[in-house]
Amino acid sequence: MEFWHDRWQSQKIGWHRKMFNDLLLKHWAKISAVENGNVLVPLCGKSLDMLWLAKQGYTVVGIDMVDQAVKTFFTENELKYESVNIGKHTKYSSQPFTIFHGNLLDLDAGLIQADAWYDRAALIAISPSDRKDYVDQIRKQTKLGAVGLLITFAYPQEQMPGPPFALHDDHVSDLFSEGFKLERLEKIDLEDEKDRGLTNVTSSVFKITRIDDM
Ligand SMILES: C[S@@+](CC[C@H](N)C(=O)[O-])C[C@H]1O[C@@H](n2cnc3c(N)ncnc32)[C@H](O)[C@@H]1O
Repeated sequence: MEFWHDRWQSQKIGWHRKMFNDLLLKHWAKISAVENGNVLVPLCGKSLDMLWLAKQGYTVVGIDMVDQAVKTFFTENELKYESVNIGKHTKYSSQPFTIFHGNLLDLDAGLIQADAWYDRAALIAISPSDRKDYVDQIRKQTKLGAVGLLITFAYPQEQMPGPPFALHDDHVSDLFSEGFKLERLEKIDLEDEKDRGLTNVTSSVFKITRIDDM
């Protein structure tokens, strides 16, 4: 947990992009999310993709455990916000955005009830031992029939400790094997990241549908 606070504090946030994610723009329409619905963005950071989703007419609910991430999303985008404490979390709002400050894994079941979710650099940021709890939260915070867009990142795990942790397609199949339907929309071979000592780097894009209550 300290890890993420330190990254934000020292501004080592190399994952942050100053433009919308091209895979989001390319694939979002294919998941057929409910029009004007509510989109959950777990581990949202200050991602500009939330602005894009709002522009498409969705309400956006993010969550990040680092206060600085949440506040800078609002201030850098010149959005005035209100905040209220809810149990272990603080809820920041500026319509159409709501961002919870706190641990995703501690959210009370059913608090969000999202129609869709968008995962870029979220599941790959979670320690592999917490992945099942992450998927449980997706189940608890979305409606039956909700659809998700998941973008993965994979490489031989022994080449780097992570995060990002290598998330291979078979990990995704295992994690979402119960109560979800999976469709891989694209698999991309990325250039080796020699500076990080990574070879065989790939990224997959999945459409995930929540089909069953567990
Ligand atoms: C790699 S960044 C990705 C941010 C964002 N998805 C993006 O694409 O820019 C991961 C973010 O998740 C947050 N985070 C990590 N573990 C978390 C948890 N268990 N609950 C809530 N936020 C968490 C970190 O503070 C960090 O901002």
